[in-house]
Amino acid sequence: MMEETIRVLVPEAEAAKRIEEIGRQISDDYAGRQVHLICILKGGVFFMCELAKRITVPVSMDFMSVSSYGDGTSSSGIVKIAKDLDETLEGKDVIIVEDIIDSGRTLYYLMDVLKQRKPKSLRLCTLLDKPQRRVKDVKVDYVGYEIPDEFVVGYGLDYAQKYRNLPYIGVVEGVE
Ligand code: IMP
Ligand code: MG
Repeated sequence: MMEETIRVLVPEAEAAKRIEEIGRQISDDYAGRQVHLICILKGGVFFMCELAKRITVPVSMDFMSVSSYGDGTSSSGIVKIAKDLDETLEGKDVIIVEDIIDSGRTLYYLMDVLKQRKPKSLRLCTLLDKPQRRVKDVKVDYVGYEIPDEFVVGYGLDYAQKYRNLPYIGVVEGVE
């Protein structure tokens, strides 16, 4: 059996710099307004905390947990809201904050559900994007990094619930 190791893809300092840039861009785009960030649990939580600290316009936050029925490494497109938002979206400038967009199935469904709640605006921000894997066409407004088709962990992302706490983004190697 090979030992499971992590190859660093995005080092901690680099991720911090990129998140700072996105925060600045959002602050510019939403100048004079308040942004309502929605974290998709659990993966989005590390990214959202860092991003929120870099946004200079007023910020409010809410959290949502969705589970998509799948085999662990891919989603089926059937999405269940496991924990819904606490607050209404009506009239708010909403940004969904996600860890990664893969097939796009989860966000395709979620954007549709949240649009029906009448936000003033609705945008999508993701730390990572794997465009090669896209099955459903979702428009991403803010992207940290486009990455190749590899399974990544860290910065909120897990492999069988492990590695979410890594302060960098890495690729799991040595798994069968
Ligand atoms: P999608 O519906 O296929 O876009 O799935 C998105 C979700 O799958 C993400 O929110 C992650 O929870 C999970 N996921 C997709 N790719 C990866 C990966 O490389 N590492 C860890 N989780 C992933
Ligand atoms: Mg996720």
